[in-house]
Amino acid sequence: MQADIAVLPGDGIGPEVTAVAVSVLKSVARRHGHQFEFGQHDIGGVAIDRHGDPLPPATLRACQQADAVLLGAVGGPKWSDPNARIRPEQGLLALRRGLGLYANLRPVRPHAAALNASPIKPHLLTGVDIMVVRELTGGIYFGDKTRDADSASDLCSYSVVEIERVVRSAFQLARQRRGYLVSVDKANVLETSRLWRDVTSRIGRDEFADVRLEHVLVDAMAMHLLSKPREFDVIVTENMFGDILTDEASMLAGSLGLLPSASLGDGKVGLYEPIHGSAPDIAGKGIANPYATILSCAMLLRHSLGLYEEADCIERAVDGALNAQAFTADLAGGARPLSTQAAGQAVIEQIQAR
Ligand code: NAI
Ligand code: MG
Repeated sequence: MQADIAVLPGDGIGPEVTAVAVSVLKSVARRHGHQFEFGQHDIGGVAIDRHGDPLPPATLRACQQADAVLLGAVGGPKWSDPNARIRPEQGLLALRRGLGLYANLRPVRPHAAALNASPIKPHLLTGVDIMVVRELTGGIYFGDKTRDADSASDLCSYSVVEIERVVRSAFQLARQRRGYLVSVDKANVLETSRLWRDVTSRIGRDEFADVRLEHVLVDAMAMHLLSKPREFDVIVTENMFGDILTDEASMLAGSLGLLPSASLGDGKVGLYEPIHGSAPDIAGKGIANPYATILSCAMLLRHSLGLYEEADCIERAVDGALNAQAFTADLAGGARPLSTQAAGQAVIEQIQAR
């Protein structure tokens, strides 16, 4: 197949990890006879420096016309003045909006070889396979904000349509997986959560009777994620709860450097990126872990291009590389760590060996 993939390296370690991920995609394309075109575009801090705009119109247009978007990370100390009028993160928010992305998928599957890197006891982690679906465009992050001398407020609101579309995506994923969906809210105190719960129950009853649905309060969920992570399959929740719970869930996998994500909407273009940021503390040293970005490419192949076998191939290759102790510094413990490039090469060798 032919596909046009927009690559947005961004800032910090973004260019280092996306370069390696692109070479992995090229090796998969060669192996399976596909033709992928890669166009590179500016976003974030580098785009502010070069164009005075964290999401230049040319970048957005290229993304809208592509089949999928692969992003590294944006931000860094150079652009981090909170009072600055233009900030790198605005580029990412504008991109999500411009592509109509509302469901953020974050799989958490601790790899056996990385279990020791997690602060959670290994016996609790074996067999954990969770997909968190976070709503991306609504809730308190986007509501009206006010501030005067002695008070401030943030409005949290959700429409039925906003809840329906993300919850349907989550039900569909649950149906393809183990048929179990947990919806997380705070319905004992928040009106938006009561609406969330009503809409979710209705969709479950009317459209997904084959999926088992449970509602769990967010504070209890924070506890269950650490005490019994194996019990969960798909978890769906609103924007802020999802932001917090996904960072918590990432600790199950040991390193931020292992966790991919996909952001999807109704349009054809999905956005794929590691969940970590631009890691300015290690940028430019060639030691960043590229696996999260490589695994994001597997999600890209699966969700945007429908190339399931190729997606599995990348995931198995990463498993193989980790089994062979191809560890970057964040995972290596006492052992001698590999560079970003060498870890990518270990994955490519696994792909070629299959
Ligand atoms: P971060 O995720 O960049 O780094 C947190 C810690 O994890 C650092 O010690 C870093 O070295 C380490 N780390 C992250 N990714 C790694 C990798 N692939 N391999 C090895 N170690 C890794 O989060 P932080 O430090 O809070 O933010 C740094 C910058 O990134 C900020 O400007 C922030 O706004 C931005 N950011 C951007 C995101 C995005 O583009 N989606 C998401 C999160 C933060
Ligand atoms: Mg976050």
